[in-house]
Amino acid sequence: MSKQTILVVGGAGYIGSHTVLALNAAGFDTVVYDNFSTGHRDACFGTHQVEGHLHDTAKLQDAMMHYGVVCVVHFAALIEAGQSVRTPLPFFQNNVAGTLNLLEAMQGAGVARLVFSSTAATYGNSTAEGTLHEALPRAPINPYGESKAMVETVLEACADAYGLQSIALRYFNACGADPEGRTGERHDPETHLIPLVIEAALGQRECIKIFGTDYDTPDGTCIRDYIHVCDLASGHVAAAKRLLSGAQTGFTPINLGTGRGLSVREVVDAVRRVSGVEFKVELAERRLGDPAILVADAARAQTLLNWQARRSSIEEIVRDAWAYTQPRATAHEC
Ligand SMILES: NC(=O)c1ccc[n+]([C@@H]2O[C@H](COP(=O)([O-])OP(=O)(O)OC[C@H]3O[C@@H](n4cnc5c(N)ncnc54)[C@H](O)[C@@H]3O)[C@@H](O)[C@H]2O)c1
Repeated sequence: MSKQTILVVGGAGYIGSHTVLALNAAGFDTVVYDNFSTGHRDACFGTHQVEGHLHDTAKLQDAMMHYGVVCVVHFAALIEAGQSVRTPLPFFQNNVAGTLNLLEAMQGAGVARLVFSSTAATYGNSTAEGTLHEALPRAPINPYGESKAMVETVLEACADAYGLQSIALRYFNACGADPEGRTGERHDPETHLIPLVIEAALGQRECIKIFGTDYDTPDGTCIRDYIHVCDLASGHVAAAKRLLSGAQTGFTPINLGTGRGLSVREVVDAVRRVSGVEFKVELAERRLGDPAILVADAARAQTLLNWQARRSSIEEIVRDAWAYTQPRATAHEC
């Protein structure tokens, strides 16, 4: 039987590159469509590659028709929430208008199945007691989260109007790296906690700052749900398989998280343990807009995708991130 082909838009980025490896391993052909604005050519593992922009509707449609694409996985976006507050227009332009172009191209090519990269940021202020369930209202607090929530609204409308079948995977804190070292986290600028702590352990930054030590949490620092990028990748494979099996109707948001929270101090301690390096920690004031606790309710992913996190112990996450980053840092020093 010939392989089914999946178009992975933004497949040369951090989560996209891990997902392409997982889709290939699961027996799919993959077409990576990327403009390499933040992605990396050496992290492009697609069976085929097309260099292009989300705004090029004709190129997207041609790629889908040429390769006989049956499903799209869409990662391409600007992702830095802080930056989105200072310069919102490119975020709406890329993340919302770009996705509208992609949907138009899908319609033109007759492709009606989409896995969309959404985020826990869509919950924003909707931080109920306990874990975050998909039934909570979308209440983003910055243009980045708003851009993702807007796309979810569009997908819902397209389900009713055109029969689009889509799954929005709402990731919690993506981290870790491919255990075989083929790809890993390389954002520029880096704003995510684990790579920043690793930079402190590598001496690439003077210290790691902990923002807020007076939250209502056991050690006073913020609690987040850290999910290994390989677990995210397997969640995308499961979502694509659900779409292709015909089990999915309409639009469904699904959290990808572990359902367990870890404090910033616990993460910092894990990097100390795994690296064996002591580094300076500076305690700083809270940042605006950081909720105390963000942890996923992971039940829906288990029920609908038969998926659960398997590699997301903090030890495994930090070990894989360290093994990916440390040799590169040493090589740069030489
Ligand atoms: N990293 C996280 O912690 C996290 C958490 C929640 C959600 N997400 C979402 O996951 C997705 C992937 O995140 P990531 O960390 O891998 O980001 P990334 O920046 O590493 O990857 C994004 C990829 O999309 C490509 N791209 C961006 N705009 C494009 C355009 N207009 N045309 C073509 N290609 C374009 C980039 O070149 C890059 O390869 C994003 O949609 C992001 O919002 C990420």
